[in-house]
Parts: sequence; structure tokens; C-alpha cells
Amino acid sequence: MRDTAPPTTDARHPARWEDLDRLRRTSPMCDAVLDEVDGRHIRSGDHWLVDFASCNYLGFDRDPEIIAAIEPAVRRWGTHPSWSRLLGSPRLYVDIEERLAALLGAPDTLLLPTATLIHASVIPVLAGQGHVFVEAAAHRTVYDGCLAAKGKGATLHRFRADLPGELETLLSRLPPGPPALVCLDGVNSMSGNIPDLPALAAICRGGNATLYVDDAHGFGVVGERAPSESCPYGARGNSVVRHTGETYDGIVLVGGFSKAYSSLLAFLALPTRLKNRLKVDAGPYLYSGPSPTASLATALAGLEVNERRGDAVRAGLYRKTVRVLDHLRELGLPTLNTDRLPIVEVPLGGGADIDAVAAYLWERGIYVTLAAYPLVPRDQVGFRVQITALNSDADIDQLNDALTGLSERFALTDGR
Ligand SMILES: Cc1ncc(COP(=O)(O)O)c(C=O)c1O
Repeated sequence: MRDTAPPTTDARHPARWEDLDRLRRTSPMCDAVLDEVDGRHIRSGDHWLVDFASCNYLGFDRDPEIIAAIEPAVRRWGTHPSWSRLLGSPRLYVDIEERLAALLGAPDTLLLPTATLIHASVIPVLAGQGHVFVEAAAHRTVYDGCLAAKGKGATLHRFRADLPGELETLLSRLPPGPPALVCLDGVNSMSGNIPDLPALAAICRGGNATLYVDDAHGFGVVGERAPSESCPYGARGNSVVRHTGETYDGIVLVGGFSKAYSSLLAFLALPTRLKNRLKVDAGPYLYSGPSPTASLATALAGLEVNERRGDAVRAGLYRKTVRVLDHLRELGLPTLNTDRLPIVEVPLGGGADIDAVAAYLWERGIYVTLAAYPLVPRDQVGFRVQITALNSDADIDQLNDALTGLSERFALTDGR
């Protein structure tokens, strides 16, 4: 699993696949088979580990109230709707879309099975024969959507979210007429950081470009700021647009239920006119199967639970994340994480061998996401810890002890 766009130079070089094959053979944390799950403890063979690789940030995957919502829905609707959405959508879809639009404060929403499908089908429609700008650290699925747009006649450009002036200049040089689409992650899937959305949105509005934001990791975690918020993640988990005080004017937001809400479903927040256009122009609404009933039921129940208990869950998530970040700081270990979200990437900076680091963590019962070459470019090799509400304080103690051991055995420095 590569998170970001591949380097353009050696993307098709066979050596990459040899490296990937070697990684699969040598690392127990790559392409693993898991035999049992007990909360956030997982068993692979006879080895139990604490799971810091899942993205079930709110712990909804094990929530009894959400689990109980599945069976009645399946009895009523069957296991799978199996009409494409244009042929017929169970009322669950309408209930989720309305509830979601209210939560996000968006004009409307459109549900499709995955963010991957949304990017692949919607980015080409929005880019048309115009210009599509992909952020350098955007998720691989966003990049692939931009490549699909290029294949259909759009011109592809790259930009960096931390250099907004550069984007402004690029937009200002475009001829008037064809559409311009600017694509990036909300909460970044590797660094866990939030882009300066107000600055980028202002530039896009000024340059007549649509800003397309993939907030797969922010939805359910960050939300609107409020004096009564339970933690700096904000309130209600209603995503990065609200968290940064932005509006949906000129912004199309994509989010997913497959992380914080533990369900196979994704959405666009968008104007109703665009929604109706995408029902015809974006393939999956007509040509793909829908999400299973269990996913629709868990999404709806998750929205209900989020409204009642979400802020308390997020406060606990923040507290545990800060425990890990504070410990890294005390150890003098680098992390890309500056915004204190529960995605904690530790770069190795060329100072330590990823295989040896992974083997050590495995031995200490810690399961993480490996950002190994060729999954990421060589200068971005490291590992990523994702903290979820179901990780106990004892789990965090075990992780922090393992990080202490790592810092004693390996030279972990951010070489960038
Ligand atoms: C930023 C980002 N976008 C999109 C996706 C894919 O989401 P989905 O599973 O809904 O296709 C992921 C999953 O890893 C992601 O991290």
C-alpha cells in the first residue's frame, strides 16, 4: 500500500517490484494474515500484538450499539441492495445523505462505496478538458484520479500545499475558459497534519478553480471549533472544512466512513446541481454495486452515536495521542506530526534499517504501518502509528516502552 503519488522517475522499474517482494517476504507487518482480533489486540499465528495500524479512530468497529444496528437492517433489506444506485437506493441512503449534510453543514451529499471509486470517477468529470493540480503529498488514490483525468484530456500539474504562492502563480497563468481543479488531502494520511485550507480556498476562488479535498482521515476526528469543544480536535467530527472555519463555496469535500466510522462507504459534500450531474456522468452511480446493508446500517448508527458520544470519544483519543507525542519529544525522536492528530509518522531518515526496526517492534508486540520503500520514496521511509479510541492506556504504555527501546538501539533521525 503506497500512500502518496509514486516518484515519476522509476515508477515502472522492475527493481521496485523486487523490493516489494523482498519486503513481503521479510517483514511480518507487510501483507500479514491476522488470525484473531480482540479489541485492539490482534493475533498473527501465535503472536499477539497491540494494533496501532487500524484507522478505526473512534472505535466504532467494536461499539455494541452500532453492531446491534446491523441485524435488524439486514433482516429488513437483505444482505446487499445489489441495484446500482441509479436503479434504486434503499431509504437508508437518503437517511444517511440528509443526516450527513446536516452534520457537515454542506448543501448536499452523495454516497458511493469508496473514496477510491469517487476519485477515479469524479476527478475526471470535474477536470474535463481543463487543468488538474495534484498536491505533492496527496493520497495515491487522488493522484490516480488525476491521472485518469489526464487520460481523458486534462493537463496535469503538481503543486505543494506549503507553497500557496506557487499555486496562485500557476493558476494565474491559465487561459480563461477550461475548468481548473485543485486536489489535495485534508488531514494528510502520512503526516497527520492539516493544510492551510483558508489560504488555498482563497487562491482557488480568486483563480476560478474548484478545490477538491480528500478528508478520509479527518472526517470523524476533526470538527468545528467551539468554546465548549472537548479537545483541540474541535466538536462533532464534521471534517476539515468546518474545522478550519471554511465554507463549501468552491470546495468539493470527499470523506469516507472506512476510517473513523468503520464502514465501507464514502461521500462527496457538494451542491445539489453537481450531485445530479454526477449521478449520470460519474460511472459508479450507475455502473457499480452499492455498499452492503451492514455498511449502511453501521454508518447511520455511527452518525447517531457520534452525535451523542463522539466528543467524549475524541477527547480520549486526543489525550492518548498526546501521550505518544510527548513521549517521542522526551526521547528526542522526530515525527512529521505537528497538529496532534492520531497519525504519528516516525521517519527513519536513512539512519536505521526499516526491516530491523519492524522486527524489533514485532518482537515487542507492537503492530504499526510500515512506510517502507518501495511503498514510499526512499527519503520517506519510516513507520506510522495510528492511535484509536480502543487503544487502552496500557497499550500506550507498551508502545511508549517500545519507542524507548527503539531510541536506545537505533539511530532515528529525521534526515530530511
Ligand atoms: C487519504 C485517503 N484517501 C482515500 C483512501 C481510500 O479510501 P477508500 O477505502 O474509501 O477507498 C484512503 C485509504 O487509505 C486514504 O488514506
